[in-house]
Amino acid sequence: LRHFLSVEHLSRSLLEDILDTAASFVDVGGRAIKKVPLLRGKTVVNLFFESSTRTRSTFELAAKRLSADVLNLDIAKSATSKGETLLDTLRNLEAMAADMFVVRHQDSGAPFFIANEVTPGVAVINAGDGRHAHPTQAMLDMYTIRHYKGGFAGLRVAIVGDVLHSRVARSQVHALNILGAEEVRLIGPRTLLPVAAAESLGVTVCHDMAQGLKDVDVVIMLRLQKERMDSAFLPSEAEFFRLYGLNNEKLRHAKPDAIVMHPGPINRGVEIASEVADGPRSVILNQVTFGIAVRMAVMSMAISGQESSQNPEQGDQH
Ligand code: CP
Repeated sequence: LRHFLSVEHLSRSLLEDILDTAASFVDVGGRAIKKVPLLRGKTVVNLFFESSTRTRSTFELAAKRLSADVLNLDIAKSATSKGETLLDTLRNLEAMAADMFVVRHQDSGAPFFIANEVTPGVAVINAGDGRHAHPTQAMLDMYTIRHYKGGFAGLRVAIVGDVLHSRVARSQVHALNILGAEEVRLIGPRTLLPVAAAESLGVTVCHDMAQGLKDVDVVIMLRLQKERMDSAFLPSEAEFFRLYGLNNEKLRHAKPDAIVMHPGPINRGVEIASEVADGPRSVILNQVTFGIAVRMAVMSMAISGQESSQNPEQGDQH
């Protein structure tokens, strides 16, 4: 691994390597270990052009637990507001000897553009680009599923809500397919679930919660991504909750031991009821905890891949 931009074209063995490496950072209580020296002397720059609570904080914690120096660039107060281009910002941060950029951007493809432009030896991690991909979120979700369900064989997973605007759903579908889940079901209203595109990903499409949740092992809820919607097409929150909001009554259709996940931020009473979000089957906050170890894994593997590529006699490169 040299950059981590999407899961789409990665092999099953590489995804399993990431999950196994993450597991090596987790203590018996399931929390990430305190500190290892794998990125000592390296500088990680968090470059978030869109807001974030979980991803940015867990990347920062992960980098610190790998002993890296971390720079969080405050984009709102940076010289981009004075007209500096993305490329010039990048060149200046490279001049500060950055070894890794963790990039979130509202435009799909921005981290790929940056990965093409950086100096050889510098790694780029996609922390969410437009509607396109959120690969580390998908990997921490896979880690959570493997932790609670033991693996992916025979597993039925439902992803519910605003699939159309969700980079998370897209990355999750690719990861679940690569890791060998039995069935991925996408559930949502026709306006938020593009059927032809979804079916081309090899998933089952449902517009009814009772039918879609029947006997699933994992339920993943998605937020209405209002910031990516034309206001004229905003669904009514009350109507959305009535039809697709997960409450205990609808959850009864899933298997009795089904887990409930959500990438966050959650909107209570819109896509999920508090009785479920805070209930015994919710692993939503555990996902956040596992995110630290998974991001430690991705960052350490990317730095090690970059080092190998600078010295091709060592190690494998993806
Ligand atoms: N899941 C996720 O990406 O959350 P943040 O937007 O808070 O980073």
